Amino acid sequence: MKEYTIRYQSFDSDTLLPQEDQKLLQAAKDAALLAYAPYSRFRVGAAARLSDGSIHTGNNQENAAYPSGMCAERVLLYALGAQGLIPKIESIAVRAVPFDREYPVPVCPCGACRQVIQEYELLSVKTWEVFLQGSSGIVLKFIGAGKSLLPFSFDLTLK
Ligand code: THU
Repeated sequence: MKEYTIRYQSFDSDTLLPQEDQKLLQAAKDAALLAYAPYSRFRVGAAARLSDGSIHTGNNQENAAYPSGMCAERVLLYALGAQGLIPKIESIAVRAVPFDREYPVPVCPCGACRQVIQEYELLSVKTWEVFLQGSSGIVLKFIGAGKSLLPFSFDLTLK
């Protein structure tokens, strides 16, 4: 029998993190407030910090033709991909801020976003740190996005 271990840290509050990580989580929350999510009313924001210290954001964009919508994580990563900036990503943060209610547990990326996250991480110079939080409360921190969030991911390269 083989076993796979996922290591992560859990913090009761973002205030226990270094300032730069608090700033990234705040950027993800600010981005969530700009989401276009009239159908689910579940706003999500994502933020990435690059090696030059710059922070970039994305949020979920929905559409009346429901499958046309896109999660915050992929809106962010595809925009950075379009600008050739994926190799510079060092950390990402994801926050959920639904309308009308608190969401005090960490939001977890969907399977499709995990596949995109793990593949882009391979194009980056550094292993990514991933921070997940709701509108408040517990923060989960993972080191190594692919390894932590999507073990046994799909791989098209011939080996
Ligand atoms: N959503 C995200 O943007 N990211 C996640 O990690 C989870 C779900 C979006 C998709 C949809 O617009 C809404 O949240 C409800 O599923």
